[in-house]
Amino acid sequence: MDESDNENTSPTLGVGMVGYAFMGAAHSQGWRTAGRVFDLPLAPVMAAVCGRDPVAVRAAARQHGWAAAETDWRALVARDDVQLVDICTPGDSHAEIAIAALEAGKHVLCEKPLANTVAEAEAMVAAAHAARERGQLAMVGFNYRRVPALALARRMIAEGRIGALRHVRVTYLQDWLTDPGAPLVWRLQREHAGSGALGDLGAHAVDIAQHLAGEPLVGVSALTETFVKERPLPGGAGHGLAAAPDGGAARGLVTVDDAAVFTGRLASGALAAFEVTRVAAGRKNALRIELNGELGSLAFDLERLNELSFHDHTEDASVSGFRRILATEPGHPYLEAWWPPGHGLGYEHTFVHQVRDLVHAVAEGTEPAPSFEDGLQVQRVLAAVEESAEKNALYTAVPPVSPAVTALA
Ligand SMILES: NC(=O)c1ccc[n+]([C@@H]2O[C@H](COP(=O)([O-])OP(=O)(O)OC[C@H]3O[C@@H](n4cnc5c(N)ncnc54)[C@H](O)[C@@H]3O)[C@@H](O)[C@H]2O)c1
Repeated sequence: MDESDNENTSPTLGVGMVGYAFMGAAHSQGWRTAGRVFDLPLAPVMAAVCGRDPVAVRAAARQHGWAAAETDWRALVARDDVQLVDICTPGDSHAEIAIAALEAGKHVLCEKPLANTVAEAEAMVAAAHAARERGQLAMVGFNYRRVPALALARRMIAEGRIGALRHVRVTYLQDWLTDPGAPLVWRLQREHAGSGALGDLGAHAVDIAQHLAGEPLVGVSALTETFVKERPLPGGAGHGLAAAPDGGAARGLVTVDDAAVFTGRLASGALAAFEVTRVAAGRKNALRIELNGELGSLAFDLERLNELSFHDHTEDASVSGFRRILATEPGHPYLEAWWPPGHGLGYEHTFVHQVRDLVHAVAEGTEPAPSFEDGLQVQRVLAAVEESAEKNALYTAVPPVSPAVTALA
């Protein structure tokens, strides 16, 4: 075999990633795999990964396949071999890194939630608009849009298979904070995470509901609760956290919600109901979605992510009912490049699909979705949920981002 047979002749896209823990590993999987499964117009090159600990970041680079390691995200952004910056850090650093990267002429992929506050998200959208004029693109990582069964649900809804939408019901349940002894990690600190289950799980729930419905929430009515108000500090004291009021050693205050329950109205008048929590004992990553329309219903459970349930209400009632669609056929979204029917996909594939779609957008100069505007829209819903909860569930309007976002075409 000629040596040139092995060469990928596509132009390249140099990628630099900040953060290398949970999402860093998942995104690395996406960058490593997408070009080996899909026919991409640009070949991703994993140029450098950034973390603050020099030894640990070098080990992460080796483990996940990055060519170089940096200990300061500013140095990563400045690298000539980086054309796209992938942000996998907690929310408190998203705005600063994303805006700096866009201003430095880089494309940006930023994990969800887009930011910790609406003001930060607005600044990110402004930077993304300016960057778009110069040809750089920005996308937020709501990866569940790329579960094939959910992409199929979106397609079926857009084709009118369930008719006019009446209800959206989303629950996103986890249980890793059920134990009061679980440590006070950054996800439980408002200054790092922005909010708790709301920003962590509710951001996904709101994005997928709006994406599937094809329309935004216009108002919400919410309750939130923090059941465990203080927790042990990870690794003991000395993390700069507020000590518990009783002076208890090595404990700190939880400053975010454990759970949020809210109802909402979509622009068409359809009703939505959400429940998100990290204290639902026995539920691990239970994102469940049901949509009811005048012609039928769709239902999905992330713990069975290759399946989509569909009820066609136009069929004869004597034989109709929910049927299970196994979303693994070549005609299903993203499946053209994967395994034969029935050989299911998993969580990590959503990150491969995310890379595929982003690389196409960069190569073709099209707007990637979800955009930073979509991320801002979700942020406004989260802020309205918090405002409503502070007022004991008073119905609170969600301000629109822009006509383009309101359409959510
Ligand atoms: N899309 C999803 O399904 C999903 C799932 C989990 C988390 N997230 C989001 O991903 C982001 C990261 O979450 P995670 O679970 O990977 O957190 P994590 O704690 O596992 O990892 C965070 C990483 O960021 C690094 N980091 C923090 N500040 C940094 C800085 N200033 N410079 C360089 N590195 C820094 C940490 O060292 C660590 O490597 C959050 O926004 C979170 O909401 C998304």
